Amino acid sequence: MSRRLRNTTAALRHGWHPVARSGEVADEPVPVRLLGEPWVIARLDDGLAAFADRCPHRLAPLSAGRVNAHELVCGYHGWRFVASGECTAVPALGPGVPAPRRARATPPWGVVERHGLIWIAPEEPFTDLIEVPEADEAGFDSVWLEPSRSSACAGLLADNFLDTAHFPFVHADTIGAGEDTVVAPYRVTQDGDGFVVQMEQRVANPEDPKVATGEHPLVQRRWSTYVYRPPFMLRLRLEYPDAGMINTIQFCLQPEDEGSTRIYTRLLRDDLGGDAVQMAKAARFEQTVLDEDLALQERFDLDGLPLVGDDADPVEEVSIRADAAGVALRRALASLVDRAARLPPTGAGRPGGGQDRVLTAARRTEYRRTTIR
Ligand code: FES
Ligand SMILES: [Fe+2]
Repeated sequence: MSRRLRNTTAALRHGWHPVARSGEVADEPVPVRLLGEPWVIARLDDGLAAFADRCPHRLAPLSAGRVNAHELVCGYHGWRFVASGECTAVPALGPGVPAPRRARATPPWGVVERHGLIWIAPEEPFTDLIEVPEADEAGFDSVWLEPSRSSACAGLLADNFLDTAHFPFVHADTIGAGEDTVVAPYRVTQDGDGFVVQMEQRVANPEDPKVATGEHPLVQRRWSTYVYRPPFMLRLRLEYPDAGMINTIQFCLQPEDEGSTRIYTRLLRDDLGGDAVQMAKAARFEQTVLDEDLALQERFDLDGLPLVGDDADPVEEVSIRADAAGVALRRALASLVDRAARLPPTGAGRPGGGQDRVLTAARRTEYRRTTIR
């Protein structure tokens, strides 16, 4: 059997993962799940904080506590923690008595807020957060779908997002109606730890208003560009050069537990001129398309995404030319797993020690500085 990437594979700790929409975290600490582990997110006076959701005292969930100014207060015995994890007060010891040395909450390597999402990297990530250039381009409107949840693992869902051959079958009632079943050859280009997929298609574009007036043909050119960043950050830019329209879909996955993945989908379009009603309609349509995907994905009886590593890896699936993007995904994730396996054990030159500690701190600071709400 091939190696499989599961939602709890430890190597995934070296990646950025979305864990909540920005609006989901207000004054109260919020519990989230990531890679089978519990975390708590809180907005402290001096910024966003995240900790393993276990108080170092009696292992109570810190998410059952409360925020008090720049501290998270455990709900069980009132120990207080600042964003670094340092314990600043132990009420049972009396005022001014320092906390035991090991009384530290455990922060992740990084927590940032970007693209309207809160992200955690449990350990130093191998890859930076995905960029979404359309978010800063004039003329684009953006809407988030309500997050969905699937029993399928994040690897399979990312693969599904990159797959185009399924459109005429899974999406026969929506985007796949009338689509050619033949997948023309397309290009996959390595891009850092991820890759870019570019394809040119001819598709029906009923949303072009000039189709109805007869000025444009219904079937038009479409340039599709997929950008993938490990482990589960994707974006698809669809350009219709005849209509002059660009639709982008940002698709990011939170591997919560075995059997649970949370899905964050955002639409960015430059053809609706700020029309909120039309954006809401587009979001509903996208949700319908996503639901078609999820209905099939949750029926898979697979505990993870089969990986394609070096030649020694047994290959379990039969891939064809049309699967080039999916094979690239399997290779990228295999390489992430291999890279994590090569890291020395914690403490022995691993990120976080010596010179690496300085670099790590600088990189962390850079993330804080560039955080965009
Ligand atoms: S368990 Fe948190 S203060 Fe005791
Ligand atoms: Fe699909």
